[in-house]
Amino acid sequence: MNEQFLQSLLKKMTLDEKIAQLLQLATPFFKGSNHEGQITGPMEQMGIREEDIQNSGSVLGASGAEEIINIQKAHLNENRLGIPLLFMSDIVHGFKTIFPVPLAIGCSWDLGMAEKSAEIAAKEAAVSGVHVTFAPMVDLVRDPRWGRVMESTGEDPYLNSEYAKAFVRGFQGSDLTNDLDRVAACVKHFAAYGAPEGGRDYNTVDISERTLRESYLPAYKAALDEGCEMVMTAFNVVDGIPATGNKRLMRDLLRDEWNFDGVLISDWGAVKEMIPHGVAEDEKEAALKAINAGVDIEMMTACYVNHLKELVEENTIDESIIDEGVMRILELKQKLGLFENPFRGADEKREKELVFSELHRKAARELAVNSSVLLKNDGMLPLSKEQSVALIGPFAENGDVLGPWSWLGSREDAATLSSGISEKLLGAKLIVEKGCGIEAGTTELINGAVKAAESADVIVLALGEASEMSGEAGCRSNIQLPDIQLELIAKLKELNKPMAAVLFNGRPLDLHGVIDEANAVLEAWYPGSEGGHAVADILFGDENPSGKLTMSFPYSVGQVPVYYNAFNTGRPQGAPDAQERYVSQYLDIPNEPLFPFGYGLSYTTFSYSEAALSTDTLHPDASVTLTVNVQNTGELAGEEVVQLYIRDLSGEVVRPLKELKAFKKILLQPGESAEVKFTINEEMLKYYHSNLEFNSDPGKFIASVGPNSKELKECTFELLK
Ligand code: IFM
Repeated sequence: MNEQFLQSLLKKMTLDEKIAQLLQLATPFFKGSNHEGQITGPMEQMGIREEDIQNSGSVLGASGAEEIINIQKAHLNENRLGIPLLFMSDIVHGFKTIFPVPLAIGCSWDLGMAEKSAEIAAKEAAVSGVHVTFAPMVDLVRDPRWGRVMESTGEDPYLNSEYAKAFVRGFQGSDLTNDLDRVAACVKHFAAYGAPEGGRDYNTVDISERTLRESYLPAYKAALDEGCEMVMTAFNVVDGIPATGNKRLMRDLLRDEWNFDGVLISDWGAVKEMIPHGVAEDEKEAALKAINAGVDIEMMTACYVNHLKELVEENTIDESIIDEGVMRILELKQKLGLFENPFRGADEKREKELVFSELHRKAARELAVNSSVLLKNDGMLPLSKEQSVALIGPFAENGDVLGPWSWLGSREDAATLSSGISEKLLGAKLIVEKGCGIEAGTTELINGAVKAAESADVIVLALGEASEMSGEAGCRSNIQLPDIQLELIAKLKELNKPMAAVLFNGRPLDLHGVIDEANAVLEAWYPGSEGGHAVADILFGDENPSGKLTMSFPYSVGQVPVYYNAFNTGRPQGAPDAQERYVSQYLDIPNEPLFPFGYGLSYTTFSYSEAALSTDTLHPDASVTLTVNVQNTGELAGEEVVQLYIRDLSGEVVRPLKELKAFKKILLQPGESAEVKFTINEEMLKYYHSNLEFNSDPGKFIASVGPNSKELKECTFELLK
């Protein structure tokens, strides 16, 4: 099958059939779906006709080989030209075997494992009939009030780009057509969805084109450079125009400048949302703006099916613009082999063997271990397996550890912390008490937990946010743990026993009320199906934590946004000539976050030598090698993420105080040391100038290396041009 086949198919399609190909509807609309019969209401409200469904091009949210095969069969029976449906779902951090949320995966600094997690998710999804995943989500994030920070890998453009590539590789593999265990990836949300004002979902985004290009766009571009098949628009405005109708963003930048020729899909309802945004008077104008911007598929609203024909007939748009979109969709169907085999990898028998297999759960456990970040440890951890433990808190026996977008993941199947700990204890007593709910509780419950904890040697607190408190539309203005959990901690503190807090949540939290009270704090995020086992592995020292934050933990919400790669000011705090008052600072809180980007502890310790450069001058076609000696100075083997940052001391426009340019994750045995080398070249020093030219400037740079973005060994070099 080839281009000719698709061209002749396109010729046979009526205008109505072509327009319907651009429509994506949720599963319940389709015959053969397990939810059949629930669609009359929405269909009528949306103005969708039966023939639109028969001719539509793709399905949102179906899963399970049986259901998908049934829908496809029913569709092929009714579709005049026998054009198969594409099945697209949000397989974000796992299908049924749920991996840690992407923000947690980010903290692993383990690109290989990130790729593996996507590969496993793809395998489970593909055998269940899914063709496309709405992932990776690569929106750069700086505001933990925003509920969707858990879907991103964090605040750094370089690291996000590396993860974007790893996820795309994992989902798509190297031969999407023939490797039926892979799914096409759809990078989202283009663009800058991660920067909503006030951290409120769907809110206005207002950033300069330079910041957009420098910080926000690189990860989308990286995903596309890796061959990502699809792009999803964002809900927000970009420079005053909703992304979904933004010609400059979609046509000029995505299509013309970046040469993206894959399928562009709107986010759910985003075409019609141009009306409340205030750039379209009605659905017809919204359809016109989206098609002109190059949006191929309209997800879950009917502006296209109800208005594109009229727009063609009155010559407002040319039919060729519709043909363009249809061809891109047909090409993707062809690439996935759907014209030959409309069911692709869907296989009920294999599905039973593969999905949630032991092998997959093992990988989920490994990644959950690598993703957890030890924020504090006064020596209390690791725990002895002979100590009696009081496990207290709303997450002690709670399976709500999968996090948002956990697709077919089941809370009942998730390993709880209580089960994880009970498997570790060698005959010692385990007391389990909830103490309070996630957001509510009673004094009696708290007192009961305190009483129960009296007889234990140590207390392990299992605290956090319900998964509904983050994710889409899960924004919070107060990012502390709910009051009732803080009350529980305060009461338990009175027992004066060693107390470790484990946090299950989806965003950097304001840790007042936890960090000083607990002797140790482990950020487990939403660790996924194997979370309870992975956390227990760390608590009892069977695994040594190595995760490092990829999003800063603010001192308090008043600092937000606080991120490591910020600009200096003209009046920086702490400068040698700084005045006491008239400097850039808060009167009531520090400028520094509680925990910076890159931070995370281990059960062992590492020492860093001074950093040495092979030469202190860099010429454009040459490179400089930075060497640092890292030694494991503790008593346990451990992994360390060695991080390289660079600062341009004088640019044409202001430059960040530091920018991550490379990292290496190394394993060192006790006493062992390694020489870690980084190559620095001119490419790493380029940035967008005021005229948006991407180039470097000659002059002085600081290269710094260390265990996080704060504790760094510095050296300087000069770029000569
Ligand atoms: O993929 C998602 C997107 O991230 C948010 N809106 C709905 C889409 C489809 O489920």
